[in-house]
Amino acid sequence: MKGIILAGGRGTRLLPITKVISKHLLPVAGKPVIYYPIETLKSIGVKDILLICGPEHTAQYVDVLGSGKELGVNFSYTIQHEPIGIAHGLSLARSFAEGQKVAFILGDNIFGDNFKEAVTKFKNKEKGAMVILKQVPDPERFGVAEFSGSVIKTIIEKPKKPLSDWAVTGFYFYDNRVFDVIKTLKPSARGEYEITDVNNFYLKEGSLEYFKAKKYWVDAGTFDSLHLANLLIRKNKK
Ligand code: G1P
Repeated sequence: MKGIILAGGRGTRLLPITKVISKHLLPVAGKPVIYYPIETLKSIGVKDILLICGPEHTAQYVDVLGSGKELGVNFSYTIQHEPIGIAHGLSLARSFAEGQKVAFILGDNIFGDNFKEAVTKFKNKEKGAMVILKQVPDPERFGVAEFSGSVIKTIIEKPKKPLSDWAVTGFYFYDNRVFDVIKTLKPSARGEYEITDVNNFYLKEGSLEYFKAKKYWVDAGTFDSLHLANLLIRKNKK
């Protein structure tokens, strides 16, 4: 299984700092934010990782991360020239994936859970996808899974009136058909190729699994969430 990290976007919610520094390189508990998704991939045995960067700060990523040798992984790099959606970012990884399954994580997603067991289950499946869910107090900010019993009925991107508090986090697992699925997508009302549409494709097919994260999850794209990430990681280290 290949690993893909999307470190795109302009970090507008972190201006003026992101004028000069990528949001994924800001420090959280003594490490750049992007180290956390890298460690998450490493912890599930994924070492070949494609970093998809926005064009603004590409050189910074290469300066900080290099070949990956220091972190015990192998990095490849590519650029997403326009921030037109998470699914669009993922589509850039087609040749890198070489026909394999992919573990895809957003560069600012920090998790406290260990996903080894869930991933072994996914690896053993012939086809399909898996999303990581987390209960949150503010589901309207995310893709939200609506349930009927223990089965996901649908996933709605940023619903005004969420019917559950289970957010779909920025950590996804797909079989290699995902690249063909993305080709069928149309941009959403916000002009993006939505990863939620990809997940709903697998859901309709009956091949979408989920795993509920129990510890902490932070999407570190705002000053408040960066602060929270610092607090949570320090607290959990003690
Ligand atoms: C994106 C996805 C959303 C997901 C979130 C996780 O939101 O569209 O479904 O819940 O990442 O971080 P965005 O960052 O585009 O607002």
